[in-house]
Amino acid sequence: MVLLGVNIDHVATVRQARRTYEPDPVWAAVEAQLGGADAITVHLREDRRHIQDHDVHRVKDACHVRFNLEMAATDPMVAIACELAPHEVTLVPEGRQEITTEGGLDVAAQLEHLKAIVSRLSDAQIITSAFIDPDPRQADAAAQAGFDACEIHTGPYAHAFHEAGDDPDHPAVLQEIDKITQTARRIVDSKMRFNAGHALNYANVHPIAVLPALCELHIGHAIVSRAVFVGLRQAVSQMKQLVKTTP
Ligand code: PXP
Repeated sequence: MVLLGVNIDHVATVRQARRTYEPDPVWAAVEAQLGGADAITVHLREDRRHIQDHDVHRVKDACHVRFNLEMAATDPMVAIACELAPHEVTLVPEGRQEITTEGGLDVAAQLEHLKAIVSRLSDAQIITSAFIDPDPRQADAAAQAGFDACEIHTGPYAHAFHEAGDDPDHPAVLQEIDKITQTARRIVDSKMRFNAGHALNYANVHPIAVLPALCELHIGHAIVSRAVFVGLRQAVSQMKQLVKTTP
């Protein structure tokens, strides 16, 4: 069964818009779990634009499911992760000007640096995942760096799906799915776990959720957006149904 990890960053985005104490990401973590989330993700960005340092401890304590910390591959962030001890760390590239994570980690270009970071995190018993573009060379590099898992960036797929008027059989969409499939095969052949995420929503999730050997989907913005209208528990539950009922 494909698992659903819920990213609750944007609950903190709303809070930070007013620099106040509500809505609380801890409450979001609890509601997401009651809706069926299999994991909770927060991204502690270097610019602290949404999740704050005090949130990560509080959210982790509220998690009865796996807690995944997304972060940049830097020494200060590794120090925070080793002290916090989340179940899993997903390493992502970070640009201060970007609206959201805009591309995968170039593992091949910084292999030695990432090997050292993965080794420190693994020594702290933390599962490591690399957020990579759908590119088999990046999967090979992630295996060399010692990652336990790779999360394939589904942003280009989601963009193609939207541009194609939500047509899953459009050639541009099939081309993106093919890139993901090729990369997933290399991930699995290297004995890493295959996860996927970014820009997935209630309309476009199905063709990704049916991919062979997929372990977990990581979804944030679409779920938090729907939660504004139906509540987070219900929004997670609806996504979970879509992911779960996929054969
Ligand atoms: N996976 C990673 C590595 C991400 O950086 C993000 C965005 O924070 C997500 C998944 C979730 O993306 P979205 O918010 O578009 O669902």
